[in-house]
Amino acid sequence: MNINNICCIGAGYVGGPTMAVIAKMNPDINVTIVDINTDRIAAWNDKDLSKLPIYEPGLAEIVEETRGKNLFFSTEIDKSIDASEMIFISVNTPTKTYGKGKGMAADLKFVELCARNIAEVATTDKIVVEKSTLPVRTAQAIKSILVNTGSDVNFQILSNPEFLAEGTAVQDLLNPDRVLIGGESDDAIESLAKIYASWVPQEKILRTNVWSSELSKLTANAFLAQRISSINAISELCEHTEASVSEVARAIGMDSRIGPKFLNASIGFGGSCFQKDILNLVYIARSYNLNAVADYWEQVIILNDHQKRRFSDKLISTLYNTVSGKKIGMLGWAFKKDTNDTRESAAIYVADHLLSEQANIAVYDPKVSKSKMQSDLNYLNTRSKEENEALVKTYDEPYKALQDAHAVAIMTEWDEFKTYDWKQIFDSMKKPAFIFDGRNILDKNDMTKIGFEYSSIGH
Ligand code: NAD
Ligand code: UGA
Repeated sequence: MNINNICCIGAGYVGGPTMAVIAKMNPDINVTIVDINTDRIAAWNDKDLSKLPIYEPGLAEIVEETRGKNLFFSTEIDKSIDASEMIFISVNTPTKTYGKGKGMAADLKFVELCARNIAEVATTDKIVVEKSTLPVRTAQAIKSILVNTGSDVNFQILSNPEFLAEGTAVQDLLNPDRVLIGGESDDAIESLAKIYASWVPQEKILRTNVWSSELSKLTANAFLAQRISSINAISELCEHTEASVSEVARAIGMDSRIGPKFLNASIGFGGSCFQKDILNLVYIARSYNLNAVADYWEQVIILNDHQKRRFSDKLISTLYNTVSGKKIGMLGWAFKKDTNDTRESAAIYVADHLLSEQANIAVYDPKVSKSKMQSDLNYLNTRSKEENEALVKTYDEPYKALQDAHAVAIMTEWDEFKTYDWKQIFDSMKKPAFIFDGRNILDKNDMTKIGFEYSSIGH
């Protein structure tokens, strides 16, 4: 099938950057990203590029280059579906918060709504591409909805999971390790492969069956998260044995079978996907009665929760077993640097724990707004909105956030934190002045020379 028009349902962290890059690399294809969220679409259309709903290095430049030419953001979902030969489903697939599989299974209601929407309005043949991360065998459900419409429209379903990481989305999309396309129809697979072939070398475009493609995405995230839990488990052992987790990571990473990436010990992984995708994997394994498999992967999450808790416990015990009424300065709220995304950020859980111990928290993050921080905490339902507002203050300026603080907790590895005038910060803090470096980004010798009581992860 010749593709002249693409529709992407879901203008989020995946739909936005992915389609912007497809549009940039395929100037002859019209790409329209649609969403039910009118505010989000308005923000994507904002003339002021600093108001785009998603912050990703390099993204604003691509949007500026393509928007209004062959990249469009719209709320006219039906119109865009019918005008396109290829439709990407890139909507959210969060963990279910109700009913069967609550807290474990992926909630597929948004995906199903998209399939029903496509079935309802399509009058010409379509290739439907699963871009969202979905449980293995979801394509079967989508197909069943699409083929039972009673119309003559022919639908082909492809699985094309996305492997970009936030903060490096544009680079990951421009230079992917691989593009994965799962499908039954060679024609449909090649129609999508041709779009990627505009910039991705053929040998990196992998074709598989649909089920392998769906399961590969969950497996990739499970392996990546497992590596972090593995190094975090070792970090705790390091703290008891005078081994250094940085030295251990370097030593094992030089083994070409292990490799050096993704071995940074931390306060625990966050982000919208690792936890949700592993829980989903665990749920699927249990649904096939594969309990040993399920228990194995569940441990990755258990260790991650332990790592977050361990960090706040250590902070409290170091501050003489109480943080009640003490000011804790937090640097960073995003789940990693170079993104404004805070979903499942470790900072939220550490803050929540410290708040339950009656700490006063002062936060600075270069990209996260006060309202986002408050809504993240309110979502946990641990205390009232008013209490969260009274106990958590957000600052536009780091030095003010840390003034008179008893301790600094580094939650995100933003580069700018390394370049602060730490002597000035020390002078403005209560003494003894503590730093809890949850990202291992500061130099222990420099900090102790200034006078800080410095501790990091795994040292
Ligand atoms: P997101 O929440 O940022 O965006 C999803 C968008 O879909 C929202 O704007 C929402 O309004 C819209 N939407 C939901 N239902 C809709 C409907 N019926 N019609 C129109 N719009 C609808 O989510 P995201 O982070 O972009 O993730 C999307 C999918 O991609 C998820 O399955 C996720 O697991 C996967 N994924 C995410 C990342 C990442 O880095 N965030 C990376 C790889 C894969
Ligand atoms: C992750 C995967 O890396 C992507 O391939 C995948 O497409 C995506 O999930 C998804 O499916 O959503 P992302 O969550 O955006 O991407 O970012 P990562 O770089 O993987 O970081 C995840 C978390 O792990 C962050 O909190 C990060 O700080 C933490 N991390 C990462 C560590 O603690 N240590 C490391 O060594 C690496």
